[in-house]
Amino acid sequence: MRIAVIPGDGIGKEVMDAAMLVLEELDLNLEYEFYEAGDEALKKYGKALPDETLEACRRSSAVLFGAAGETAADVIVRLRQELDTYANVRPARALNGVKCLYPGLDIVIVRENTECLYKGFEFELDNSAIALRIITKRASERIARFAFELARREGRKKVTALHKANVMKKTCGIFRDVCRNVAKEFKEIEFNEYYIDAACMYLVMNPYRFDVIVTTNMFGDIVSDLAAGLVGGLGIAPSANIGEKHAIFEPVHGAAFDIAGKGIANPTAMILTACMMLQHLGFTKEAEKVRKALEDTISSGKTTPDLGGKLKTKEFAEEVAKRLRE
Ligand code: NAI
Ligand code: MG
Repeated sequence: MRIAVIPGDGIGKEVMDAAMLVLEELDLNLEYEFYEAGDEALKKYGKALPDETLEACRRSSAVLFGAAGETAADVIVRLRQELDTYANVRPARALNGVKCLYPGLDIVIVRENTECLYKGFEFELDNSAIALRIITKRASERIARFAFELARREGRKKVTALHKANVMKKTCGIFRDVCRNVAKEFKEIEFNEYYIDAACMYLVMNPYRFDVIVTTNMFGDIVSDLAAGLVGGLGIAPSANIGEKHAIFEPVHGAAFDIAGKGIANPTAMILTACMMLQHLGFTKEAEKVRKALEDTISSGKTTPDLGGKLKTKEFAEEVAKRLRE
């Protein structure tokens, strides 16, 4: 199977190197092909997402993506839409050994990935700017169904829809109504809903009341960084973009220019992202093995600075790789 690997910009490259170091320890019939995209690609080729990269993504079994910088909208947001990976699955799970606000927390955010304000329909008019928020019944239905099916598959008990239908009566209205209807098909799974603003407070004060969250594109983007903060930060937050034909795997974080080049980025998010890819491709045992090696390494006190440790990105990855060899 061919994997299109796009390290991208900033710490994207650093955490991708680290993840490859770990993946190389596994005996899998995967072929990793490296492609460019992002701010640097824009400078070099005049295109943030070169045609060659897009074509490679189309013919690969999966895409493994690091991060883009200021061109993120033209690279990863576009890739998700081009490959119609409509479901962005973002688990926020407290890892063994990580000191965090909410030990034991294990929630999954399912974010609609193809429309909403991130469709990119923005215009300037005189001294104003206009953005169009597109919410369709079709996309709402498939993301709601995806969330309930994920809940059923993973033995989860509850799906919570987040929206703001009291203000955005039409767009959020469609999303809310569709979620309510789809919920009726999944009688064994509890369904509830909150307005997005109240949900942010509940998440900070008592996130244990959540299990699976389903929401629209931009709310999902915001809430997934918030949720990462509950369990130890962006350094450990993975994600998967799943469609009918394609899948793109990327950490929740971006290029983190504030720490790029220092070699201190936590590659855990990227490695867990690679685990989500392995699981998707059917390598469940290997994914579990890597997750265990990661958690054992962190539990032994070996971590990067974001988690209070002293290890560099590469040193941490080498520790994980060493555990895989043992
Ligand atoms: P960011 O996610 O890159 O960083 C936010 C904060 O989290 C920073 O303080 C950073 O140091 C920290 N952080 C992130 N990943 C970390 C890791 N692995 N280990 C330790 N600390 C980590 O978001 P920010 O700073 O808002 O954006 C930076 C650039 O990344 C921008 O150019 C933005 O457009 C781009 N971006 C790209 C994304 C993508 O490609 N998917 C997503 C988000 C931002
Ligand atoms: Mg984001």
